[in-house]
Amino acid sequence: MEQDFWQARWRENRIGFHEDAPNTLLTQHFPKLGLHAGQSVFVPLCGKALDLDWLCTQGLQVSGIEFNQGAVEEVFARQGLEPEVIRQGDLICFQAGALTLFAGDFFALTPAHIGQVDVIYDRAALVAVKPEDREAYAAHINRIAGPAQQLLVGFDYDQSLMEGPPFSVPGETVRALYQETHAITLAEERAADGRIGERCNALEQAWLLKPLV
Ligand SMILES: C[S@@+](CC[C@H](N)C(=O)[O-])C[C@H]1O[C@@H](n2cnc3c(N)ncnc32)[C@H](O)[C@@H]1O
Repeated sequence: MEQDFWQARWRENRIGFHEDAPNTLLTQHFPKLGLHAGQSVFVPLCGKALDLDWLCTQGLQVSGIEFNQGAVEEVFARQGLEPEVIRQGDLICFQAGALTLFAGDFFALTPAHIGQVDVIYDRAALVAVKPEDREAYAAHINRIAGPAQQLLVGFDYDQSLMEGPPFSVPGETVRALYQETHAITLAEERAADGRIGERCNALEQAWLLKPLV
């Protein structure tokens, strides 16, 4: 089961996807979305990414969801925040100040949980989803958030060289998933670092998605 796979990765500290600084594709390209303080960003499959902290420093309302409760708790602890914790059905909501993170399954999240969403920041989330679940993932993103603007950071590589996750999500797949709802622009692509860069010359790509309506 998908959740068991990810919980084992966290338990065994096999979290090579976690970066020790905010992703620079976020810090460079997020300002292009034109958000101002007080607007809201939703971060699906957020892990304990330092990207969350960076988004908070921009004065935004930040929400996210992650299977692993320990990861969620760690984000609040490192920000020195003591969250209010409320069980909401199968999800547990942690909230303090402008930060709201849910522990539980992304697919259990409803628009009522996250409220208004101005931007979605997807880093290593779509690429973490099994290929057969991608359409459901993109449809659920659009259902719960809008569709909203999106900064999408993923990988493109030869899938025969490595098993995912992270899976390769090339431009044609991004377009197939989102072109009916969004105008899609490649903001930047660069050689990926770490294991995925060494093993398969992966490209790390930042896509900007603007709603068509
Ligand atoms: C590749 S990691 C990326 C984490 C984060 N975005 C980052 O940049 O560090 C994918 C994360 O999604 C979580 N995850 C996978 N499927 C999920 C689901 N259906 N609901 C909630 N979290 C999920 C995993 O536990 C894992 O932490």
